[in-house]
Amino acid sequence: MRVLCTTRLTLEPQVPDHAEAMFAVMSDPAIYEFENEPPPSVDWLRQRYARLETRRSADGSEWWLNWVIRTAPSQLIGYVQATVHPDGRAGVAYELASRYWHQGYAREAVDAMIAELASAYGVRHLSAVLKRRNHRSLRFLERLGFTHSTQGEVEADEWLMVRPIAIDTRSGGGVGSDGGSSGTADSRP
Ligand SMILES: CC(C)(COP(=O)(O)OP(=O)(O)OC[C@H]1O[C@@H](n2cnc3c(N)ncnc32)[C@H](O)[C@@H]1OP(=O)(O)O)[C@@H](O)C(=O)NCCC(=O)NCCS
Repeated sequence: MRVLCTTRLTLEPQVPDHAEAMFAVMSDPAIYEFENEPPPSVDWLRQRYARLETRRSADGSEWWLNWVIRTAPSQLIGYVQATVHPDGRAGVAYELASRYWHQGYAREAVDAMIAELASAYGVRHLSAVLKRRNHRSLRFLERLGFTHSTQGEVEADEWLMVRPIAIDTRSGGGVGSDGGSSGTADSRP
């Protein structure tokens, strides 16, 4: 995994040393208004990050990629995540502390991850699963060019959203905007 740099952000491959600062970030209750729950302790999070350091599923067939997001003044603000399948599909997810919403940070981070997924991992198709009432995530995904899909199995209170990645061969293989830009949502256990 590589460090990814954008105009305002640095995305660092997640390691156990991030756990303490990320525990503070992920304890923001606003993140969990519609789904998921905060980590129960720093130790729990450190152990989880240690398990995820293999970057692989137990059978080795999937990449499990996590980057923590750092702003220029060196503040951790959230994470982005991808589960990469061998057939070029990837499920994506993201969480940012609420004081960093509405500033375009999530978009900037997810765009960077998608470009990396396309160029370094051969990803050509993105998916995201979210609770139907998570209107913030829904709006975010729509802005990124995701559309609703009925082609996968999700819970009755969830949406599956998908987006192909178009590779612009005229500009040296960059990620094109095939009806949108980037993506989000979690398929990881
Ligand atoms: C979903 C989530 C990541 C969306 O975050 P976000 O900040 O709304 O998303 P963006 O980064 O695209 O920011 C867009 C907003 O920044 C504004 N903005 C300000 N400066 C900007 C800039 N330089 N570039 C782009 N947008 C900018 C946009 O106008 C827009 O404002 P609006 O929301 O008031 O319309 C966030 O709500 C979140 O972390 N939620 C909790 C976790 C969660 O639900 N995860 C998904 C589980 S499936």
